[in-house]
Amino acid sequence: MPFIIAIDGPAASGKGTIARALSQHFGFHHLDTGLLYRATGAKGGDPVAAARGLTPADLARPDLRSAEAGQAASRIAAIPEVRAALVAFQHRFAAQDPGAVLDGRDIGTVICPDAEVKLYVVASDEVRAARRAAELGADPAQMLVELRERDQRDSQRATAPLRPADDAVVLDTSDLSIADAISRAITAVDLAR
Ligand code: C5P
Repeated sequence: MPFIIAIDGPAASGKGTIARALSQHFGFHHLDTGLLYRATGAKGGDPVAAARGLTPADLARPDLRSAEAGQAASRIAAIPEVRAALVAFQHRFAAQDPGAVLDGRDIGTVICPDAEVKLYVVASDEVRAARRAAELGADPAQMLVELRERDQRDSQRATAPLRPADDAVVLDTSDLSIADAISRAITAVDLAR
């Protein structure tokens, strides 16, 4: 049985960095599930058809990291048929030996509810906006508005809203260095192994 690590949290909380580090540390596969939604939104046209027809080339587009792609992703991510179209791929990914790390919004609650470890990574709105602004070379105040709008949409939607699983370990990275955040995440996984 592969070992599954589910990581959820709002935008720019640090979950992607932690997911990558855990996958390297444990030798597991890593899937940034946000990319599936970003690629679906960026394809344009009927989002359900876009989600059903995603190709590796769609996932490799260099423009998927922008704030606009994030907003478009968050809009189409509220459509139940879009989410349903992406489930099988995520399940197949999670079934790979020796294990997999998936990060997103609904991994611990919907996609992998039986994951061995569930992390819910958070950080203050201001810290997240500053991080995203540095990453994208954008204005922190504008990023703050953008992140709050996206988090609001992601947590208010009816299907698979952003929320911690009941058994998730909550990791607040606001005042942690990247190294400290990673080492706490590794400890949480070690405790479950
Ligand atoms: O994590 P990232 O910022 O790339 O995600 C982009 C958007 O995709 C999120 O704001 C959210 O609406 C959606 N998403 C989702 N479920 C996931 C991953 C991402 O709804 N598992």
